[in-house]
Amino acid sequence: MDKFIIQGPTPLKGTIPISGSKNAALPLMAASLLGDSPSTLNLIPRLKDIYTFGKVISETGAGLQFFEDENRMVIDPATIHSYEAPYDLVRQMRASFYMMGALIGRAGEAKVSLPGGCAWGPRPVDLHLKGFEKMGIQIDLDQGYVHGSIKKNRVEGGVFKLNPSSVGATINLVLGAVKRAKKFIIENAAMEPDVVLLCKMLQKMGADIEGVGTDCLTIRKVEKLNGVTFSNDPDRIETGTFMIAAALHPDSEITLTGCKPEDLGKFPKSFRKLGVETRIDGKNIYIRSVKKINPVSVTTKIYPGFPTDLQAQWATLMTQAEGFSKVTDTIYFDRFSYVPELNRLGANLSIDKNSVSIKGKTALQGAKVMSTDLRASVSLVMAALVAEGQSDILRVYHLDRGYEQLEVKLNNVGASIQRVPE
Ligand code: UD1
Repeated sequence: MDKFIIQGPTPLKGTIPISGSKNAALPLMAASLLGDSPSTLNLIPRLKDIYTFGKVISETGAGLQFFEDENRMVIDPATIHSYEAPYDLVRQMRASFYMMGALIGRAGEAKVSLPGGCAWGPRPVDLHLKGFEKMGIQIDLDQGYVHGSIKKNRVEGGVFKLNPSSVGATINLVLGAVKRAKKFIIENAAMEPDVVLLCKMLQKMGADIEGVGTDCLTIRKVEKLNGVTFSNDPDRIETGTFMIAAALHPDSEITLTGCKPEDLGKFPKSFRKLGVETRIDGKNIYIRSVKKINPVSVTTKIYPGFPTDLQAQWATLMTQAEGFSKVTDTIYFDRFSYVPELNRLGANLSIDKNSVSIKGKTALQGAKVMSTDLRASVSLVMAALVAEGQSDILRVYHLDRGYEQLEVKLNNVGASIQRVPE
């Protein structure tokens, strides 16, 4: 296991290129399995989660080549001979559960391990399963595995309302329906950019999906989907994370390149309230920090609201704002494992139900802290960048799941981060 040794404080100055989106890439990889020929995916980030999902895909017998230097992946589904995603891989990454939809779509059957919980609590998949059943798929649970199968030759489909709206369930059900369900309607479907991109790829492959980008998707079965060449989108969460990092230190000046600002939803609206100079120009986002940041309270919501994947970073930023603020998560109620760690660095945060109250501005001091999950980890790195002295961030493998070359990108703009074995 590696740790980061970070010397702070350091302002960030220069240009940071944004990588391809992790959360969007995984469904695109799953969609490739539905084609009759190989698909080529561009802008695929070199991340632990991508490699893990690559292994899950390879387990089925599909061909997979990752041209890492070019961030290009080619997936050939022709050789698939197994319809199983084993526990050892699924437990490492919940998105492996997308194999349910992908394999039902491809073969009419799937055996996928139930993913289990997460560092920040239970993350159910009941809606995925109910949706498949509503579609006409037989679902059986056996020894921690979900078996999905098509009993009759035809799956008529139906109408399924997601409550709450779920990104994961929408993706899985779309994957399962496009080649199977005569007509399947998903109401209150997630509208996250990841879902929209998946639908666009499937449409390019030949799928019949109506309502893309809205909260009601109507899917009508097609017999055949073709492999395609398709480009992933830039990572909106990485973009937001670096915007926040640029605002943290009063002397930072950063340009993010290769962004897709329209995918950020209402995040820039909250960001502008900080008083930080922000300019969005095509695919570039320019940020110049200021001495005094305004406290800005946020509440996470489904897209286009403030993303749950940015709340930990926002709370970190609020430790440097002049005054009191609150971060509330309405998607996941206990995603606050970063709070005691930030307090170890000298922050003044307290948890009340699904909210964190932050009293700023506090001078942060370097310390040893522990990463607990992906977004918590990146928050600790950001806090360490403005903390006085040395911080050791333990267990950074969480970061490798979701941020491509984080320390390289930050060191290029002035940070002092060393990766060493723990
Ligand atoms: C969520 C985020 C996503 C983020 C991901 C990882 C939202 C809407 N989704 O996606 O942007 O990238 O975390 O950090 O912000 N639920 C059920 N039953 C299910 C599935 C979900 O009750 O079968 C609930 C969840 O507990 C949650 C809500 O629905 O409260 C949203 O779920 P979903 O969008 O699927 O969550 P993730 O895919 O984890």
